[in-house]
Amino acid sequence: MLKLIIILCLIVSISCKTINVSTDKELVSALSDVSAGDTIELADGIYHNNYTTKISGTADKPITLTGSRKAVLSEGHYGFWLQADYWILKGFTVSGGLKGIMLDGANHNILEDLEVHHIKDEGIHFRKNSSDNILRKSYIHTTGLERPGRGEGVYIGAAVTDWVDNKQDKSDRNQVLNNKIGPNVGGESIDIKEGSCCGIIKNNVFDGTGMSGEHYADSWIDVKGENYTIEDNEGNHSVLDGIQIHQQAAAGIGGCANRIIHDKCAGLPPKGKCVNDLSKTCTKHNIIEE
Ligand SMILES: *[C@@H]1O[C@H](CO)[C@@H](O)[C@H](O)[C@H]1NC(C)=O
Ligand SMILES: *[C@@H]1O[C@H](CO)[C@@H](O)[C@H](O)[C@H]1NC(C)=O
Ligand SMILES: *[C@@H]1O[C@H](CO)[C@@H](O)[C@H](O)[C@H]1NC(C)=O
Ligand SMILES: *[C@@H]1O[C@H](CO)[C@@H](O)[C@H](O)[C@H]1NC(C)=O
Ligand SMILES: *[C@@H]1O[C@H](CO)[C@@H](O)[C@H](O)[C@H]1NC(C)=O
Repeated sequence: MLKLIIILCLIVSISCKTINVSTDKELVSALSDVSAGDTIELADGIYHNNYTTKISGTADKPITLTGSRKAVLSEGHYGFWLQADYWILKGFTVSGGLKGIMLDGANHNILEDLEVHHIKDEGIHFRKNSSDNILRKSYIHTTGLERPGRGEGVYIGAAVTDWVDNKQDKSDRNQVLNNKIGPNVGGESIDIKEGSCCGIIKNNVFDGTGMSGEHYADSWIDVKGENYTIEDNEGNHSVLDGIQIHQQAAAGIGGCANRIIHDKCAGLPPKGKCVNDLSKTCTKHNIIEE
């Protein structure tokens, strides 16, 4: 992928640069200095600031932020705050912040091969109409250190009580693929909020060891969105169920038309169900195949 971008940049003779950074200051300045097609390469080490960007790449020339697992974005308010489109975040670690990676109005980004851990609230949050993003092959654990019930691994959309100007949070068509989530995730491994639709949650492995049971956190996945495909995931150890479908009455939307198939559950208590459909008023029903 990276090679392809570099070749593309040569062909259209636009200078795509690689910016090497090894200090807080260099990273802050790189994030305000990048253009489409550029790569920011993090040297190993601990980065202590708040990092954000509003500069977007393009479909042909995404912007890449990459580093090894030993490059750690740490102690920020948000470990990384992405407010832009067409980024690739790859390889590095986010640890120690209030929230790990926050996406606000951020579209068409790829988050890949990251590790996110020791976070006070949620690990990765797609919010404020952040759509068409992919989170894959990453490892998220030890979240909710401050508020266990609100320490979800991955959080998609916003609760009706947090909708901006009472408008639905359309964080849609996000894909969460091939990740390992848990142990010690205080909230759900994945929480899909009312108003969000059409995502794919596939091939993830959940370890519910350390799930708090607080604030309804008693399953690996909570589905309050609609038209989601949730397929081929597997989990072990839960407070109650594997996957729960809920309807949030105040939102007047969601909890219907989801397709939940071929998920495997182990380590549930006797009363637990692998998929527990608690929806009541769907015209388009959820499809569940175990
Ligand atoms: C950036 O770092 C890489 C090694 O990670 C090195 O090959 C390259 O020469 C460096 N580029 C600059 C401009 O220092
Ligand atoms: C990071 O942002 C938070 C919240 O805005 C602020 O309290 C904190 O001082 C910032 N940290 C740094 C290192 O600037
Ligand atoms: C999200 O998109 C909807 C339209 O689908 C819009 O009404 C709303 O204001 C947007 N919210 C934000 C926070 O941008
Ligand atoms: C359901 O999701 C599929 C796949 O993203 C999409 O093609 C379709 O338009 C969606 N339907 C509704 C009603 O949202
Ligand atoms: C679930 O975890 C237990 C140990 O806590 C292990 O013995 C068992 O093999 C696991 N089951 C699956 C299906 O991974």
